[in-house]
Amino acid sequence: MKTFITSSIPYVNGPPHLGHAMEFTMVDVLARYSRLKGDEVILSIGTDEHGGKIAEKAESMNLTPIELANKNSQEFERLAKTLEISYDRFIRTTDKDHEDRVQKIWLSIKDDLYKKQYQGWYCPGDEAFFSEAVVKRNNNICPEHNRPYEKVIEENYFFKLSKYNKQIQEIITSNQFLVIPETKRNEILSLLDEGLEDISVSRPKSKIYWGIPVPDDDSQVIYVWFEALLNYITVLGFPDKQDFKDYWPASYQVVGKDIIRFHAAIWPAILMSLKVATPKKLYVHGFINVDNLKMSKSLGNSVDPFGIVDKYSADTFRYYFLRHIPSYDDGNFSWESINEVYNSDLGNELGNAVQRTAVMVQNYLNGELPDIDPKLKYDQEISGLIEDCRFDKALEQIWLRIKNLNQFIEEQKPWQLFKTGEQDKLSEVLNSQINSLRYIAYLLKPFMPEVSDKISKTFGDKLLSLSKQTLFPREELDQHATS
Ligand code: MSP
Repeated sequence: MKTFITSSIPYVNGPPHLGHAMEFTMVDVLARYSRLKGDEVILSIGTDEHGGKIAEKAESMNLTPIELANKNSQEFERLAKTLEISYDRFIRTTDKDHEDRVQKIWLSIKDDLYKKQYQGWYCPGDEAFFSEAVVKRNNNICPEHNRPYEKVIEENYFFKLSKYNKQIQEIITSNQFLVIPETKRNEILSLLDEGLEDISVSRPKSKIYWGIPVPDDDSQVIYVWFEALLNYITVLGFPDKQDFKDYWPASYQVVGKDIIRFHAAIWPAILMSLKVATPKKLYVHGFINVDNLKMSKSLGNSVDPFGIVDKYSADTFRYYFLRHIPSYDDGNFSWESINEVYNSDLGNELGNAVQRTAVMVQNYLNGELPDIDPKLKYDQEISGLIEDCRFDKALEQIWLRIKNLNQFIEEQKPWQLFKTGEQDKLSEVLNSQINSLRYIAYLLKPFMPEVSDKISKTFGDKLLSLSKQTLFPREELDQHATS
């Protein structure tokens, strides 16, 4: 089966933060899991580089927009590599190929575009328009960005979003386009119940120059959201390339809760206008708070994902954010909690099971290992959880196996069997431990690729390969980390 998986593409007006890193990790689990099942996978990530927000930030740093985009886009790619994200494509919306394809797409949906004089409230931080009601409720200040909404009166191109309202309701209600979790599905359905209005999809070049020009109209550039969404198909070479024919529709699209409207309403409508199938699944994750506060520039509480990987490891990062941030809700990060999780779940539970078993196999069996089962199959229950993007629960299930294994060791006491010379029973117990660990390593492949590999190598073929280093050497909480 051909499987296409995407994350959203982050803005390049700043360096990557925890939210971006978590989202990259989530799509990577889906990609690795699908490959393990035998699918041919394209995992696409990238960066969103146009728009007023980026031009504004670049100006404040005395850079040109493309200089800022280059600098930060590289950081996102470095983050992906650091986190062992097995991406196949990294698209930048300033890629010439994307820009050309966007202009062609624009021309091909001309029937759904019209020009009109428009008055509205705009927040440059969101790169989005807001209704009179929302602006009033917020006393004219955008709560996300702490800046006043700007009154915009201009002539723009509009996209006939309202025309697709009913069709979108149908595909979501019938789960042909599955929005998970259910709470987010309900949220978008009630938005659709209220009715969608047509949306502005261009801005005057005189106001925002950093964007893809509207074809045949020199005075306008394409609205950044409109073209950014198109990355999901331009990356496959829509409309002519074979990859598009083979891999679209996407099996999974993963985005955060703040951009659900763009992905569950506007995006399907654009696809309908193009007469192209809609994605199979949209998974909407929650937000990470830091020390129970919203991450924000003004609070200065943003945590650098590279710092976490440096102190612990990429796999620790992956484990923490997948298991201890609820997959269907918001969650909290603190240095205290990751340090605790590292020492307990990883060190005491997983690390210990591996270490004890390896040492006993070395001492009691001269490192001899039983044959490897060649036809390991992924656990059905855990498969279901991964396919529902319940990464937290899937890891909980794997950890149950680890806990059971530790309990088994405590109960069987192989050290006593050795003392009393019960060799057959001893081999049986240790072989069972080894096979459990091999299976746990297999289940961990999508989640913790490096750790999984190390465990598989330790209990590889015939002879144990005992590493001098423990998997998770104990870590103390740094002073700086708590501040
Ligand atoms: N550029 C747009 C996406 C365009 S997709 C065609 C964008 N960029 S972003 O950088 O603001 O956000 C990128 C992703 O990070 C989004 O899915 C967003 O929800 C997610 N997160 C941003 N802050 C977050 C947290 N605090 N926690 C978890 N994820 C968060 O939106």
